[in-house]
Order: sequence, then C-alpha cells, then structure tokens
Amino acid sequence: MSTSITILGIESSCDETSASICRDGQILSNIIATQKVHEKYGGVVPELASRAHIQNIVPVVDTAIKESGIALEQVDAVAFTQAPGLIGSLLVGTQFAKSTALALNKPLISVHHMQAHVLANLIGDPRPDFPFLCLTVSGGHTQIVKATSPLQMEVLGETIDDAAGEAFDKTAKILGLPYPGGPLIDKYAAQGNPLAFTFAKPQVPDLNFSFSGVKTSVLYFLQKQIQQDPDFVQKNLQDLAASIQHTIIEVLIKKLKKAIQQTGIKHVCIAGGVSANKGLRAALDQLGEQLNISTYRPDFQYCVDNAGMIAMTGYYKYLAGEFADMSISPSARASW
Ligand code: KG4
Ligand code: ZN
Repeated sequence: MSTSITILGIESSCDETSASICRDGQILSNIIATQKVHEKYGGVVPELASRAHIQNIVPVVDTAIKESGIALEQVDAVAFTQAPGLIGSLLVGTQFAKSTALALNKPLISVHHMQAHVLANLIGDPRPDFPFLCLTVSGGHTQIVKATSPLQMEVLGETIDDAAGEAFDKTAKILGLPYPGGPLIDKYAAQGNPLAFTFAKPQVPDLNFSFSGVKTSVLYFLQKQIQQDPDFVQKNLQDLAASIQHTIIEVLIKKLKKAIQQTGIKHVCIAGGVSANKGLRAALDQLGEQLNISTYRPDFQYCVDNAGMIAMTGYYKYLAGEFADMSISPSARASW
C-alpha cells in the first residue's frame, strides 16, 4: 500500500479559477484560469465571476489531474478555499469540492485563503524555517503574519483601509490604466525614476498600514498638473508609475523592518499578488542584506491566487487530521 498523501486543491475566492495536485508536499500541477471578463468594467464584477467559475471549474480540475499524472481515484482529500472572498465565487468552489469528496468518499479540508498565501512560501526550495514573518500583500489584504508552524499563525498588523493591491489598482485607474493595474505599474515603473514625484505616506501606529491617502495624494497632484498640461500623464507615465510604486513599497518595507526588529525573527517572506512586484522583490532582497536575515518569496505562479497554495495548506491540515464537515459553508469574511 502506498503511503503517499495526495491532495486536490481548489481555489475560487475571486477572479481566478484554479486547481492543483499536491503529493507529499510537492506541487505536481497548478492550473490557473484568469477571468478576462472583468477588464472592461475596471474591477471584478461578483456575479460575472461566479458564472465564469461555473464554466471554468470542470476543465481546470480536469487539466490539473491530467497534468499531475495521477488518477482522480488516487486523491486522498479535497481541499478548498472556504474564506474570505466573494461569496458567490466561494460557493462554486465549495460545492464542487464537496461533490468531489462525496463522490470519491474522501475527506474534505477547508482552507483560509490568507493562511494559504503565507504557506505558498513552503512550495519549492529554499523554504523558510519556523518561526517566520510574512508580509502578505494582495488585492484585498495587507498583513504582517507571524507563523510558528504551518497551522499556527498570528496577524501582527494589517491595513486599516485600502490593501496594497488596491493602492496599485486605484492609482493605476487614475493614470487611465486598465484593471488590474498593479502589473502595469510594475512594468512602467521599470523605466521610470522612483524619486521623480513625492506622494503622501500615511502614518499609522504599531504594525498597521494605511493606503487610502496615497491614492488621494496622487489624485490631487494629477488634477493640478493636468490643469496646466492635459498630456501630463502620458508624458510622465513611467516616472509616475515608478514614484507611486516607490511610495507603496516604502510604506510596506518600513513596517516589515519594524516587525523584524520587534520580534527578532530572522526568516522573512512575502506573499500575495503584490509580492510578484519586481520593485518589492528587490526591496526585500535589500532589506535582507541590510539586516542580515534570510528572505523568501514564492515563484510568480504562487504569488497571485492559485490552488497550489490551497493544496499545500490542505496537505498540512491532512497531516494534522483537520477535516471539515460536509455541512460547512463558505464565508465572505473570516477572522483568524
Ligand atoms: O493575491 P491576489 O492574486 O488576489 C487577491 O487575493 O486579492 O492579488 C491581486 C492583486 C491585485 O491588486 C493586482 O494588481 C496585484 O495583486 N498585483 C500586482 C502585481 N501583480 C499582481 N501589484 C503590483 N505589481 C505586480 N507585479
Ligand atoms: Zn489572494
């Protein structure tokens, strides 16, 4: 009898439909279908997202199984994102996971999306040692988390208003860029001067963050400039992108540095969609050298929403015997 543990992971919390197979802590496949339908609306439309999940989920799971080289019958448990996220989107993944677990007569594992983002750092090598700190930066959250084991995590600080990803997306929208603007700011910033313009950096106590002031500061600055030169944005797009990115990264790195100094923890990670940002990845490297600590970031495919991180978290929950009841419901919001 094989002693391998094989987990099917399903992620559907926002606008990515994803499925993954994890065997003994190794990701064998990670299929992500990104929904293009939201682009023209400037943000995710929840009802359209649920419909796209319904269309995508069967082919995505099917491809994840095929690509992994395992047979569906070899799956030992089905892990799914239970919270937080868009409720209609979560419902699709939850129902699909329940039906699959029932059909296979295998246990169900519920996963917290933010915990999974942190554990994306355990996919591939090198891996951080416990305890580690993780700056989780996504479209909906900005948190500094202390992980003492795969399943024991504590939020040390978080945003009191916009998330870092929202700061990228909303300022990108002001610049006239399509949704999601984060990757585009990253792209234009590479050719710009990060010190060309200065924007407000909201100050909040402890290890918490605030980003709504960045967006307002960019908006007021541009309104003034455009009055004098209607083409100001086009002429300065790269410098604007670089300066906005620099402002957001400075806020993030300052708090991360404070958390490292307060806790004395020497292994530090980033996670979430914004951790794909090249400027943030470089700033983390720099911080590592400056403080003589080890830094980690997931591969690009495990930064954005993906089922690899759900399957990985499912694997640790399986080892701990943490299974969910079939009566479980998804939840749009969930505290830790
Ligand atoms: O983790 P994620 O895929 O979804 C949520 O759970 O929210 O994060 C999406 C966010 C979006 O705000 C997107 O603009 C941002 O991550 N993002 C980036 C980059 N890639 C994705 N922000 C800045 N630079 C990037 N390269
Ligand atoms: Zn996410």
